[in-house]
Amino acid sequence: QRIIGIMGAMPEETNGIVALLQNPVATTRGRRTYTSGTINGITVVVVFSRWGKVAAATTVTHLILEFNITELIFTGVAGAILDDLNIGDIVIGNQFIQHDMDARPLMAKYEIPLLGVTHFESPEDCINAGFVAANSAIAEKKLHTEIPEADLAQFAITAPKVIIGVIASGDHFFSDTETKTKLLSELPDVVCVEMEGAAVAQVCYEYAIQYTIIRTISDNAESTSDIDFAAFIATIASKYAALIIQKLIL
Ligand code: ADE
Repeated sequence: QRIIGIMGAMPEETNGIVALLQNPVATTRGRRTYTSGTINGITVVVVFSRWGKVAAATTVTHLILEFNITELIFTGVAGAILDDLNIGDIVIGNQFIQHDMDARPLMAKYEIPLLGVTHFESPEDCINAGFVAANSAIAEKKLHTEIPEADLAQFAITAPKVIIGVIASGDHFFSDTETKTKLLSELPDVVCVEMEGAAVAQVCYEYAIQYTIIRTISDNAESTSDIDFAAFIATIASKYAALIIQKLIL
């Protein structure tokens, strides 16, 4: 039986998804509330992971061991690294790097100790399904009918695009140009940064669980990132997550 774990790094996002559940049942363990139910007849468990790699890894492990999930979907926001990414655009992660992992000289920079890899790769099927779901949510103009025009205008969101790309995760909120430029010089393929994806990817890799990680750009990972991030979360993020999830779970 398919059981899909759905994790979000913001309560605003997971609340929007919990609202979609049929027959929701909530249980609280380890300071997190797991809500089980169905979406389109498929069993899902939705949880707000909280922020950072440890919080995310703990939550996904709990979903695997206590709720027996067979696949995982993570939705959240991210700061743009790629110049061409604008607020409101969507990234489906294909590779995940922990940008704050550095055990040199014992091993190469970014190498995950004892796994012998520097990045994790989401399964091809998951990437494609995420890409199709995000594009179809956009194509149906649902973002525009369900989110007030004024909220979209605040971030100049007109025609959001969906890209597939490399996501870097770490316990750091990017809020200045210098740090952003340094990351880009060391990891030129990274398109956006966030604080959970590569931790979720590591746990899913270790337990052989399929995972799809979807990130909406909330800020540009430099000087105004904290202001844009807060405003985006408050007005738009929750609706985005729910619209894409409805397209993904069919
Ligand atoms: N998630 C959203 N915006 C971010 C940023 N600027 N840095 C890290 N994680 C983020």
